[in-house]
Amino acid sequence: MSGFAEKFIDNPYAVFRAARQRHPVLWQNFFGLPMWLVTGYKEAEALLKDARFIREVKKADTSGHQPVHPENTPPPEVGLMRNMMLFRDAPDHTRLRNLVNKAFTPRMVQRLSPIIESIADQLLDECRASPQHELIRDFSHLLPAFVIAELLGVPKEDQGFFRNWSNAFFRFIDFNPSMEELESNTRDIEDAKRYFEALIETRRSHPRDDLISRLIEAKEKYDQLNTEEMVATCLLLVFAGHETTGNLITNGYKLLLDHPGMYDMLRGNAVLAPAAVEETLRYEPPILMVYRVVSDDLVFAGQSMQQGQVVMIALAGANRDPSVMSQPEDFNIVRSDCKHLSFASGPHYCLGAPLARLEGEIALRKLVARLEKPEIIGQPRWKQSIVFRGYETLHIRAEVV
Ligand code: HEM
Repeated sequence: MSGFAEKFIDNPYAVFRAARQRHPVLWQNFFGLPMWLVTGYKEAEALLKDARFIREVKKADTSGHQPVHPENTPPPEVGLMRNMMLFRDAPDHTRLRNLVNKAFTPRMVQRLSPIIESIADQLLDECRASPQHELIRDFSHLLPAFVIAELLGVPKEDQGFFRNWSNAFFRFIDFNPSMEELESNTRDIEDAKRYFEALIETRRSHPRDDLISRLIEAKEKYDQLNTEEMVATCLLLVFAGHETTGNLITNGYKLLLDHPGMYDMLRGNAVLAPAAVEETLRYEPPILMVYRVVSDDLVFAGQSMQQGQVVMIALAGANRDPSVMSQPEDFNIVRSDCKHLSFASGPHYCLGAPLARLEGEIALRKLVARLEKPEIIGQPRWKQSIVFRGYETLHIRAEVV
């Protein structure tokens, strides 16, 4: 890993702050690739809502400016990605999102609330046996995996596979997977695909109260999702909702431990859990940045952009823009001006945001209430990712009550 990457992983906020001070929309070499880096809040929000900035590299690639795909992901026309809303633009994106929305309703999320409470309690009960815990392995990454499995209707005995699959996607989407990683990830993803194809077939004849059954039923006029689109959607939900939510929980708990005043406030007043989640999302967002591609020659924020150029939108930079909030470098769960773009904005605004918030609130509330005298052991290391923000491990000593 280069010196710049190490510096970035250690403190991405300092890199984004320095860029913002030069210009909130800056043309520069970022990790060796020329691109626009957007670090101002207003500019990032406007850009995410602007249809001239697209996700499909191919559509923009007609001008002779060779766009560099910033995430090393295969372009959407390759296999599964073609059927995932995250990698598509209107009108295909709109169609997929509308159909999935018919199934993934607020009622679906509300139905999960008591299930999330009970999964969180069970995981913490299992921690009782030991005075030391690795929070990510024992709690933060299991909780969202089990929740997505429940949401989709994956039987209990199959839920162990989940983490491999979402880890495989996580590595795919990051900047620099090795060839070996790509091959093993491809195998994991093929397994996951076959698994969901079979489960969808089962649910066609035996529907239940779960998301897969609702996806099968979802209709817009005469239009429905085909099996390939359903498989892609299941995988997208596994990948999009696992690593991210796990990081939200770990980052939030670590921030609270580092800020004892905030920790005591939440412990004394559990209704602050939603505010603690929002401030965690703002301060230490699980996804640091997302990309778009310029669809046509245009002017944005006073900058002339050319078709095919890549734009990196630094959500984590926008979240600490002093022009929209006071003392953005302070972690404060009772701030009155908590604004963030951690779920993005515009047409791709995170479809799972209500579920992520609910999981985050329940998890932080339970951790603060049930872990007595928690202490961090050692110095946790950040994952070596420049897109996702989360720790590799978080070892703690605490009595579980
Ligand atoms: C704290 C946890 C989460 C964070 C920080 C997060 C963040 C994001 C962001 C930034 C995007 C937009 C990407 C872009 O514009 O390029 C997104 C999209 C998406 N997220 Fe999440 N997410 C989280 C949890 C979840 C969960 C729990 C689910 C579902 C189970 C989910 C499902 C999705 C889907 C399906 C999309 C694509 C939406 C579209 O393209 O229209 N996410 N998420």
